[in-house]
Amino acid sequence: MKRPPRIRVIGSINLDIVARVHTLPRPGETVSGGVLAHYPGGKGANQALAARKLGADVAMFGCVGNDSAAGQALALLEANHVDLTGVAILDGVATGVALIAVDAAGENQIVVAPGANALVSPGTLADLSGDYDATLCQLELPVETITYLADTVKGLLCINLAPAKPMPQEVLDRADILVVNETEAAFYGDQLNSSQALIIRTLGAEGAIALQNGKEIARSASPEVLPVDTTGAGDTFVGAFIVAFLSEGSVANALAYACAAGAAATLQAGAQTSMPSRDQVEALLDLTV
Ligand code: RIB
Repeated sequence: MKRPPRIRVIGSINLDIVARVHTLPRPGETVSGGVLAHYPGGKGANQALAARKLGADVAMFGCVGNDSAAGQALALLEANHVDLTGVAILDGVATGVALIAVDAAGENQIVVAPGANALVSPGTLADLSGDYDATLCQLELPVETITYLADTVKGLLCINLAPAKPMPQEVLDRADILVVNETEAAFYGDQLNSSQALIIRTLGAEGAIALQNGKEIARSASPEVLPVDTTGAGDTFVGAFIVAFLSEGSVANALAYACAAGAAATLQAGAQTSMPSRDQVEALLDLTV
């Protein structure tokens, strides 16, 4: 593909309220001494920005509230020229918020208050008839909405099954590409195995594998990095994979590129603030063994 891939992302838009702490709290425990920051986030918006920063033309579809958090949540998408005409601003509901704790090793705990994301529906979504090379969804929207999208959108459909929740088999069957981490792969089990989709399984710092009809068809390691904050690394992986896959058509190369992008996204704090440029990904790709 000579021109930039055209990607539509239908998904969540959040404001991430992040406390950096030494150690993540256990249930019932209070951890003090946190350092507070606000970042744009949401799995949908993160994947949209990752794909855009890696060269795709991206249109974002979703909902925010009519509040000040919306401006903060959309700021980096806007600054990077993601098409936001498909983002509806809804009165009387809050923009989605994620409360995130990040520890000294870069690991996180996330609680999401979906707000306007829970109102993304056939009624609030803009016209979906546009022409795109791929549509990308995650599971931070209502199950009924994902089911509707699986029935409605034409062309290549990639679903990142995150966060895992019960989904009708027909949704998994409709997808051309399904992306899961290890927890999600265990959650979907046989449902995933019976899908004909290209399955991309991320393995954290170990890299990722691609499977088709239960057989491994490609595998990539991740470059070794010292993570600062892993928030948004999985989203960066997904955005990078789809851009590279559409651009080159090679699953193996796209997997290696996405692993390098995901690793690069752990090197700075925040979800969208850490998303790498093409140069940053290529520099890490050279280090992948
Ligand atoms: O995948 C990371 C994202 O999950 C965060 O940005 C947060 O908003 C939650 O949606």
